[in-house]
Amino acid sequence: MESARAIVTQHGLCVHCLLGLILPLLSQAGEILPVQGLPNTTFSISGDLNIGVVMSLHSYDKRSLCGDVIRELGALQRLESIVFAVEEINNRSDLLPNVTLGFTVLDDCYNDLTALVRALQFVQKSNETDVSDGQSSLPAVSAVAVVGAEGSPRTLQMADVFSVFRVPLLSYASSSSQLDDKIKFSYFSRIVPSDNMQARAIVDILLAFNWTYVSILYADGSYGTEGFRAIQDHLERNGYCVAITHMLKNTFQERQYNETIHKLLSKPQARVVVLFTTQAQALELFSAVNRMGVHDKFTWVGGDSIGMNPHIFAGLEHIVNGVISVNFISAPVERFEDHFSNMTLKTGSRNPWFGEFFADIFNCSLNGSFKACNDTVKIGTSREYKPESTASQSMNAIYALAHALDEVMKNCSQPAVADCVEPSVLRDTLRKVSFQGEGLAISFDNHGNGQTSYDVRNMVVENEVLVQNMVGNWDTATGNFSYFNKVSINGNCFYFNKVSIYGNLPYFNKV
Ligand SMILES: *[C@@H]1O[C@H](CO)[C@@H](O)[C@H](O)[C@H]1NC(C)=O
Ligand SMILES: *[C@@H]1O[C@H](CO)[C@@H](O)[C@H](O)[C@H]1NC(C)=O
Ligand SMILES: *[C@@H]1O[C@H](CO)[C@@H](O)[C@H](O)[C@H]1NC(C)=O
Ligand SMILES: *[C@@H]1O[C@H](CO)[C@@H](O)[C@H](O)[C@H]1NC(C)=O
Ligand SMILES: *[C@@H]1O[C@H](CO)[C@@H](O)[C@H](O)[C@H]1NC(C)=O
Ligand SMILES: *[C@@H]1O[C@H](CO)[C@@H](O)[C@H](O)[C@H]1NC(C)=O
Ligand SMILES: *[C@@H]1O[C@H](CO)[C@@H](O)[C@H](O)[C@H]1NC(C)=O
Ligand SMILES: *[C@@H]1O[C@H](CO)[C@@H](O)[C@H](O)[C@H]1NC(C)=O
Ligand SMILES: *[C@@H]1O[C@H](CO)[C@@H](O)[C@H](O)[C@H]1NC(C)=O
Ligand SMILES: *[C@@H]1O[C@H](CO)[C@@H](O)[C@H](O)[C@H]1NC(C)=O
Ligand SMILES: *[C@@H]1O[C@H](CO)[C@@H](O)[C@H](O)[C@H]1NC(C)=O
Ligand SMILES: *[C@@H]1O[C@H](CO)[C@@H](O)[C@H](O)[C@H]1NC(C)=O
Repeated sequence: MESARAIVTQHGLCVHCLLGLILPLLSQAGEILPVQGLPNTTFSISGDLNIGVVMSLHSYDKRSLCGDVIRELGALQRLESIVFAVEEINNRSDLLPNVTLGFTVLDDCYNDLTALVRALQFVQKSNETDVSDGQSSLPAVSAVAVVGAEGSPRTLQMADVFSVFRVPLLSYASSSSQLDDKIKFSYFSRIVPSDNMQARAIVDILLAFNWTYVSILYADGSYGTEGFRAIQDHLERNGYCVAITHMLKNTFQERQYNETIHKLLSKPQARVVVLFTTQAQALELFSAVNRMGVHDKFTWVGGDSIGMNPHIFAGLEHIVNGVISVNFISAPVERFEDHFSNMTLKTGSRNPWFGEFFADIFNCSLNGSFKACNDTVKIGTSREYKPESTASQSMNAIYALAHALDEVMKNCSQPAVADCVEPSVLRDTLRKVSFQGEGLAISFDNHGNGQTSYDVRNMVVENEVLVQNMVGNWDTATGNFSYFNKVSINGNCFYFNKVSIYGNLPYFNKV
């Protein structure tokens, strides 16, 4: 890999990233100088082949590159699931035999600029020690490929840098359609499909019901705006019309949510509302519907953000009854959860962030300033513990890389196996792997997007309990449903716009 100094001459290629802000951080030797507020903590277990991992472990803090607040427990589960997967692979004799896999984890602190700095740590030369000014630099990390980031805005930063410096990047969660540009992001792949596909699946549901006149609400930011654009595009292509389109900002308060519902109500013929929002926004929206007592006025269709954790809608069952959602398939991995839930401060101690998560969920102190943490208590005894479905995605990413490296190693005759890894060969090999992952089969399309299918779920109240019925499956490989059991869908109300949008709409047709 090239030294980070090369960025100074090559950054013209990288017009979309924040390199201009980073240049002052580089020393004469091209190293990254310590940055105020940016911890240099790494979690490393080294092997013959090392994978870099960038995760969001600390929360976003607009005043610094890294906040002090540790994220929710799920973030620790994803991190430990990676450690677990690497260990499993090293235990296996059929995958990467005689080669140990290692890893180095860095924290992007949920911050785009931090993610960029982390990307640079992978491209600077690891052999240089900066003695010019007596300051130690941020540690350079050597890796054959990098797994990350979680959120698309941070992955975009890294994908930009890595396309210039030729580092294969594999995300397990970033689904933004902005990352579809494989000329720009030539070294980027992901195990998840692009949101563009989710938008197509949503539109196919509208088509199946002849819901020709709909409203769209979407989140501020790339997830929402790109999703909105894709939905609008697919709708127009099918000659459909959009009634209200409205962007929900993160700063919205109760008043703005009230206004949003009023706006939707102003188009009484557009009773179907497509949501490309965050889960928190969906919750605010449904609460507003509840306050206004208009639960029988809408049918909601949306993506993962509303289908993923239905328990957050507790108390709003009568509102979400009938929601249809298109979901990326992801389920907890039992053997990992069994291991993770038994972890204690003691067994988690090699992970430098474990204690922070632990102290946070048990409200205890690691340094004796108040109630001391008990180092034999199992993390699974916390009330905040629940099996984490996204851990399957981070594990699948590690397995995908292991399968690709296994292929590459078959041609390797050098004693230092890392020397056999040509970045473009690893990337191309990765995009050709196919294997049974956790919960689903993993493979990639030609552009390095995950080729899987979406579940179509219908949220309904049955015996006063909110359940999700699987009513369909939409395959990204064929761009069509593999099945769709329309008549099984139930809920508050379903409007079948059988007549053209200009005529009288038939009212309420419950199936
Ligand atoms: C990390 O930063 C600490 C001070 O914050 C410093 O003592 C340590 O040497 C640094 N480690 C590396 C590997 O640069
Ligand atoms: C790997 O093998 C060791 C030794 O048999 C075992 O203790 C460990 O639990 C295994 N790890 C995983 C993740 O399966
Ligand atoms: C792994 O190492 C063992 C012992 O050195 C050797 O017998 C075996 O052939 C090696 N396997 C592969 C796939 O290289
Ligand atoms: C590290 O740098 C030293 C001195 O510049 C050089 O002799 C050595 O070969 C380098 N090691 C590696 C692994 O590049
Ligand atoms: C949708 O419209 C098409 C053509 O107008 C019609 O053939 C089909 O039966 C309609 N489907 C439903 C579910 O109303
Ligand atoms: C939102 O609407 C509800 C019901 O109409 C009302 O009770 C509440 O005061 C409104 N909130 C705001 C902030 O306007
Ligand atoms: C975790 O603990 C439970 C009971 O406390 C035990 O049954 C199980 O075998 C343990 N699992 C592992 C992987 O240690
Ligand atoms: C955590 O513990 C401290 C000291 O025991 C207490 O003051 C604080 O209220 C607790 N916080 C929570 C969220 O329980
Ligand atoms: C002890 O840890 C708490 C957080 O767990 C931190 O707020 C406090 O500053 C620490 N105190 C010392 C003396 O390090
Ligand atoms: C720590 O937790 C263990 C197991 O839950 C318990 O037996 C022990 O009493 C606890 N120790 C303290 C000091 O609270
Ligand atoms: C391994 O070598 C064969 C023969 O040269 C070649 O066709 C194949 O593409 C190589 N595979 C990888 C993963 O490098
Ligand atoms: C899509 O699937 C439906 C039923 O699952 C089928 O009737 C239809 O022909 C398929 N369309 C295409 C383009 O394959």
